[in-house]
Amino acid sequence: MTTFPTSFLWGASTAPHQIEGNNINSDWWARESAMPGMEPSGDALDSYHRFREDMQLIADAGLNAYRFGIEWARIEPVPGRFSNAELAHYRRMIDTAVELGLAPVVTLSHFSTPRWFAEEGGWGAPTAVARFAAFVDRATSVLDGVEWVVTINEPNMAAMMTMLQQAARAGQLSQWQSPTIDGTAERERIAANLPVPDLASARPFIEAHHAVRDLVRKRTGARVGWSVANGALTATPGNEDKLVEVRHLWEDVYLDASRGDDFIGVQSYTSQQVDENGLVPHPEHPDNTQTGAAYRPDALGIAVRHAADVTRLPVLVTENGIATADDTRRIAYTADALRGLAGAIADGVDVRGYLHWSLLDNYEWGHWRPTFGLVAADRETFVRTPKPSLAWLGRVAVSAGADLA
Ligand code: BGC
Repeated sequence: MTTFPTSFLWGASTAPHQIEGNNINSDWWARESAMPGMEPSGDALDSYHRFREDMQLIADAGLNAYRFGIEWARIEPVPGRFSNAELAHYRRMIDTAVELGLAPVVTLSHFSTPRWFAEEGGWGAPTAVARFAAFVDRATSVLDGVEWVVTINEPNMAAMMTMLQQAARAGQLSQWQSPTIDGTAERERIAANLPVPDLASARPFIEAHHAVRDLVRKRTGARVGWSVANGALTATPGNEDKLVEVRHLWEDVYLDASRGDDFIGVQSYTSQQVDENGLVPHPEHPDNTQTGAAYRPDALGIAVRHAADVTRLPVLVTENGIATADDTRRIAYTADALRGLAGAIADGVDVRGYLHWSLLDNYEWGHWRPTFGLVAADRETFVRTPKPSLAWLGRVAVSAGADLA
């Protein structure tokens, strides 16, 4: 039986830099212009102006939640100078979501930071935690009534990116090169060699999360957590100890740090094996997704069980989806992922919601090729065209999972 609780959140996720457009004061904007091989985000999908239309699509489909972010680079374009107009913009987004019957799930930091923050040394700078706390202190002034706040998106991936950026500054980037270079084989090679986020790179994220958790709770009454990239890692025979070691640095450090939170955000796309040498590079395969990931809808069930096991917290699936040009495949993947999620719920895991990545075919950190969206968008006219998967997910939501069968 694939049933979900009646209070379940059903929705879609986005991130500001990936959809808003013209995020010119952010570090990503600067990086896109400077790095060879990267496509610019440009106008993106102009969601900065079209957020109501985006939310309306979600609501019309029968979904009841929307995860979006507030963009630090817009709110604090210069250190210590906050824009009341931008804060009011995000308040309008929250009010619009509520008006349309969507529970806003608000992310405070989703990979992009102000350019000045990056120039100061980014998350590796001694001032990083205080800078983030000062931003959140101001941001909470518009978050009243929001019930779900994600402080930092995928701190484990962000820590890994910090290591890449530090290598770039030290002129050692050739070890890893840009993780967003196009070409599946090249991406595979790079993905297999990404630096493992060490404890030093994890520390500022953990401190920043802890520094703002109570503040957000007190000011807004929201449930506060963060969203971890869950690799759904499994051991090859005989390598269970190595799995524990590898998983510790890639995700358990961050799951452990969520103790005391109100929920854990799970983000899952694929599963990967660990052998005696560490993560096993995933081979080329006709079933691979557009990002070169293995087609593994069962990853969500594995990820949710592991995150709940380590944290003992309620789970909110803050991202799950597939990069594919074939929407039938998206539906098949999501149906299987949701069956796995229902299985975890049936086994007693407390799951509060499922937010699909992504609402739109958005900017994928350096390029536009992978299409994760429930909705296509023309990048010149910004016309949105819902795909069948959007209505399908809405029907699943309205039937509390019964339509999955
Ligand atoms: C990130 C998103 C990204 C998605 C698909 C997650 O790592 O939070 O920003 O677009 O995965 O790659």
